[in-house]
Amino acid sequence: MNELIFPKNFKWGAATASYQIEGAYAEDGKGESIWDNFSHKRGNILNGDTGKIACDHYHRFTEDIELIDKIGLDTYRFSISWPRILPRGKGQVNQKGIDFYKRLCNSLLEKGIEPAVTLYHWDLPQALQEKGGWANRDTAKYFNEYAEIVFSELGDLVKTWITHNEPWVVAFVGNIYGEHAPGNKDYKKGIQVLHNLLLSHGMAVRTFQDMNLAGEIGITLNLGDIQPATEKPTDKEAASLQDQLLNRITLEPLFKGNYPEQLFEIYTSEFGPIDIESGDLELINNPIDFLGINYYTRNIIKNDPQANGLGISEVKPADKEYTEMNWEVYPEGLYNVLKRVNADYTDLPLYVTENGAAFNDEISNDGKVHDERRISYLQGHFQAAHQAIEAGIPLQRYYVWSLMDNFEWSYGYTKRFGLIFIDYQNKQERILKDSAYWYQSVIERNGLVLDN
Ligand code: BGC
Repeated sequence: MNELIFPKNFKWGAATASYQIEGAYAEDGKGESIWDNFSHKRGNILNGDTGKIACDHYHRFTEDIELIDKIGLDTYRFSISWPRILPRGKGQVNQKGIDFYKRLCNSLLEKGIEPAVTLYHWDLPQALQEKGGWANRDTAKYFNEYAEIVFSELGDLVKTWITHNEPWVVAFVGNIYGEHAPGNKDYKKGIQVLHNLLLSHGMAVRTFQDMNLAGEIGITLNLGDIQPATEKPTDKEAASLQDQLLNRITLEPLFKGNYPEQLFEIYTSEFGPIDIESGDLELINNPIDFLGINYYTRNIIKNDPQANGLGISEVKPADKEYTEMNWEVYPEGLYNVLKRVNADYTDLPLYVTENGAAFNDEISNDGKVHDERRISYLQGHFQAAHQAIEAGIPLQRYYVWSLMDNFEWSYGYTKRFGLIFIDYQNKQERILKDSAYWYQSVIERNGLVLDN
């Protein structure tokens, strides 16, 4: 039997985010978040879906932890809803919110499952949005205060902390493209949002370190494998700009203490200066303990003078496999991204904090969900991860996105990423998909069986 075995201390996990699974949107003192506000407005989300109930995880977390245990996960990554802790974003603390996350952590720990907590997975308190949201520098200060509360309440239970999930998506998809909450379409504001998010990350890292808590802290970035469509210099130039726009825009400030020069020259000549105060970049560049990477696909880029802005467009080869998100299945890209980050930016431990795929899953006549394509997607990506480890890259953890089907942002419930199927129409029944059983066997053997 041909097997690929992972290092002994390698940790297998799965991930979720508060707004995508919890529901209970106005319960036990929780305040409104920008995602409540955004999804409750008609036209923002496919089919008018909202996270009001989502997977009802807030009420069913005990059952969900049993399923996590059944799959055999070493670690579970979830996020904390800021407005559950601070309904108005600052000031008055909601004890019931803190108690919920304490119960969740304790139940995980009782089963030997290690919690990994994201402080911000996009659900900003609406009260802070009304003061300008992330475009307002004060939001970074309030985030730091929120982080301090959570560290002191949960610091003895949680040893792995992630400040932000994908600051790029918050800035670009939420504030420049307007497809996510808060729905702004303002380039200058979006770049300021990105800076303030990174600043808040740096502040929270300092706070964590000053509190001398046991455990580790890092950040999660969405990184892509960017490739030029051809060897033409114009396509290569376009790919380099896209790389600055998607990858280097967060990697450089975090690991080198500056923003990509060419891109920022374009931005500032177009929109005027971004508010960056002295000391900000030092704070952002503060040492962390690990880097979380979310990888889904590659991006093939060509120069396109017709395209808006930077004159970049994406090419999607017809002969490749695509997921329901229309993302190409490209496992080699995971290897490329891990290798690049390690070679060019940091020798810190790397965690894949998200990787997975949406497919058109259905319950079949035998009552099961046969998601072979997800198994093959994960198998390919686990192989790429193993290859990276063999090449000496310090990859230590892997979180599959997602533990369960959930509210896929502007796509509502139409995209299913879960290892666990949620039957939304039928009392929220949970069904382990074939991929969950397959993952269970990977974890048990700490490795993969190869077909040939
Ligand atoms: C996000 C998740 C999201 C997933 C699939 C990531 O960008 O962190 O919240 O569901 O991708 O789109």
